[in-house]
Amino acid sequence: MTLSNLEQRMYKKRLLRLNKPTPVHSLENKTINQNIHEAIPFLPSSFVDLLFIDPPYNLTKSFNSNYFKEMAPQEYGLWFEPWFERILPALKTTASVYVCSDWRSSGILQQVLQKFLTVRNRITWERDKGRGARSNWKNNTEDLWFCTVSDDYTFNIDAVKIRKKVIAPYTDDDGEPKDWQKTGSGNFRLTHPSNIWTDLTIPFWSMPENTDHPAQKPEKLLAKIILASSNSGDFVLDPFAGSGTTSVVAKKLGRRYLGIELDEFYACLAEKRLARAEADKSIQGYAEDVFWERNSLHEQKSISASGKLSKNGKASGGQNLRRAK
Ligand SMILES: C[S@@+](CC[C@H](N)C(=O)[O-])C[C@H]1O[C@@H](n2cnc3c(N)ncnc32)[C@H](O)[C@@H]1O
Repeated sequence: MTLSNLEQRMYKKRLLRLNKPTPVHSLENKTINQNIHEAIPFLPSSFVDLLFIDPPYNLTKSFNSNYFKEMAPQEYGLWFEPWFERILPALKTTASVYVCSDWRSSGILQQVLQKFLTVRNRITWERDKGRGARSNWKNNTEDLWFCTVSDDYTFNIDAVKIRKKVIAPYTDDDGEPKDWQKTGSGNFRLTHPSNIWTDLTIPFWSMPENTDHPAQKPEKLLAKIILASSNSGDFVLDPFAGSGTTSVVAKKLGRRYLGIELDEFYACLAEKRLARAEADKSIQGYAEDVFWERNSLHEQKSISASGKLSKNGKASGGQNLRRAK
């Protein structure tokens, strides 16, 4: 997806800039085009159910009008901590927080996060893309820290199950499938997701969700986080919105959202994606209320067409949700 000059002028009119304390209803389903350091002081308190943070990684990288310069590892922690602490009052006591990082900074960020929150897990996801190295292992993973403000938080495990091909299809004494289902396209089981995610791929050029943003996250990744850690109508905040992936997926899944993005072009791109999401609620790799393994479009289509798979144990996609204690 690209953005013309004309579109940028049009979508710019939808963007917010904060210069005074702003009530929640004025922020709902909006994109703020501003530096987080200027915007955070004007956010209301206790309105966020889910905070997703995808900051610039500690690499020298250009983000159109701004760029991030690599610093010493400890300095990256010192850069992260002050604004992170200032954003915490925006969270409800039941909120969850996810923070993205690469392996180099993961340890540093864990130290900062555990000062303020309960760190519950580290998810590592396979990017399915990465540059080979001559004298090192190819870097093909990223981390996601999962934290909560308290022990009272949302976790909808049934909404994030993965439909996997069954390799050893066990049957019971009557010859019936044990915990899997037979279809014309193979045998499948719904499995609990672990903290290693191998069913994702970073958006590549032929995927409809792909934009010009250099660090865009896959919609499927956000779908897992939003479905697991928020309920329908909950408020999702992304302070480094980039091309708007979090807001777009929140919208598709019936959540309220707010994105903050420094670069005007990316903020407008986010608005264009949000406008498209009015008509197209699809999320690649998430269909029939379950997540599918990578490269399984063929099976998805043939099962959908035959309608053979029973909905037993299917994910709820925002209903039938519970709060984990
Ligand atoms: C890693 S990218 C986020 C990508 C996003 N998750 C997506 O899927 O498109 C980080 C973004 O933070 C923005 N950014 C960097 N510093 C910022 C700041 N101080 N305030 C607001 N946004 C900032 C950059 O312009 C960039 O788009």
